[in-house]
Amino acid sequence: MKNDRKSSFLGNAEENAKAMIDQGRHTFRFDTYGDEAFWTGQLQIQQSVKSLTPRTALALGLKVDAEALPPSVIEAIQHGRVNLDDPAVTLQLIQQNAVLGVVGTFNNNTLTKVGFTCALCHSTVDDSVAPGIGARIDGLANRDLNVGAIIATAPNLTPIVSLLSLAPQDAGITAQDVRNVLNSWGPGKFDAELGLDGKAFNPQQITNGVVTGTNVSGATLLPNARGLSGHNLHTWSGGWGTVTYWNALVAVLELHGIGTFFDERFDDATQFPIAAAAKLGHVSVDPDSDQVTGKLAALHFYQLSLPAVQPRPGIDFDPAAAARGDELFSGKANCNSCHHEPLWTEPGWNQHTADELKIDSFEADRSPGHAYQTVNLAGIFVRERGLFMFPQNKGRFYHDGRFQTLLDVVNSYDARFNLGLTDEEKHDLVEYLKSL
Ligand code: HEC
Ligand code: HEC
Repeated sequence: MKNDRKSSFLGNAEENAKAMIDQGRHTFRFDTYGDEAFWTGQLQIQQSVKSLTPRTALALGLKVDAEALPPSVIEAIQHGRVNLDDPAVTLQLIQQNAVLGVVGTFNNNTLTKVGFTCALCHSTVDDSVAPGIGARIDGLANRDLNVGAIIATAPNLTPIVSLLSLAPQDAGITAQDVRNVLNSWGPGKFDAELGLDGKAFNPQQITNGVVTGTNVSGATLLPNARGLSGHNLHTWSGGWGTVTYWNALVAVLELHGIGTFFDERFDDATQFPIAAAAKLGHVSVDPDSDQVTGKLAALHFYQLSLPAVQPRPGIDFDPAAAARGDELFSGKANCNSCHHEPLWTEPGWNQHTADELKIDSFEADRSPGHAYQTVNLAGIFVRERGLFMFPQNKGRFYHDGRFQTLLDVVNSYDARFNLGLTDEEKHDLVEYLKSL
């Protein structure tokens, strides 16, 4: 009795960790933070969901959790006995909580509300039943998800038009302009800064002094929410804050959940014309109606608990070549000067200027850090190999996906930093990257 009292007074780390993980997982997968008020109440997206066939849903990159479905349904899918052209099937899947990140509210089997969760963009499935249908993998980015095309189907884009119009360069835009921007994103991308600065396109993508693209979409690749512990700054353009900072921002400003978000840096009307005008750094709701703040601690804990995916020697990489690449990584190729083993980022203030990286500063300048975060390399083989994604969406590295393969990345570093790597050394370095 005495011991029990002592343990509840001081708490118990293992029990606390378990409870936090369970709670955070539930929030990550299923919590909409009340964002139906925006997606349904304002954009009316439930109307487009009602006419969404399973075939279209899968093509848009939405993923289906096979473990949420009864065995009879799985069997029917495997034997081609499910009508992929019937929107009613999509609604049944949503009703069974089987569509990752999509939460439906039903009244007598009629869909009345749709909301979205973190799992929409930051999870996928293992394709064990069919492409796009399998067991959930929390934290791996959904590289197939065409977020922009999904939002573009919403009947009422007026709230987005009004918001973006607050940026001087976007004054007078129409719903069609917004649809064009959304449709420019493509699979596996989202523009988290658009609603703050209204900058939809990078006028000049520059790599090593050469213009490699003009009017490139400002959307960035969806990053993994795995392997984040031990890292100080997050997101492609670091300098926003920690994981929990970003979680609060996303829940309130991106998902449009009902919660509180504070950041005085958003009052800078030059960098953040929309956020400053709409006072997005001062969103405050009453504690009793706040559906975000109370969930941040467990959500943070859960994300930090998700490890990077582990490559398998001989399957995902060639161990002998990787061992040679290891020497190069911290030797001749000098990668370790930024991607410090074994965090693969700097312990400390882990970001670099665009000049240092010899690339354009478009995305860097959209964040308070005006820089690029030294991103984690653990688990990068998943993208290189195209695991758990449509073959056409594999690869794509750096924030805007300017490099198609890891060899393209290495070739570029070789040119940007005059590394003088031979073809053999480049190959070994790629195998090493795939072994992390
Ligand atoms: C619509 C897609 C989408 C949804 C939904 C979404 N995110 Fe993200 N997330 C992104 C994108 C894109 C980035 C990269 C943003 C950037 O760098 O500008 C990102 C970045 C992150 C990062 C930083 C990862 C790193 O690089 O270190 C974390 C953590 C994160 N999101 C957590 C969440 C949480 C928690 C939720 C739910 C509250 C959520 N996200 C919902 C698209 C999404
Ligand atoms: C000056 C610091 C610095 C050095 C040196 C450096 N990197 Fe990077 N690396 C970065 C930053 C910053 C990013 C993120 C760029 C972005 O946001 O687009 C990055 C991104 C990457 C990526 C893409 C990650 C992804 O998720 O798309 C790979 C792969 C990579 N680096 C490998 C290497 C290799 C291999 C070397 C050595 C040849 C190297 N880096 C040297 C800072 C550095």
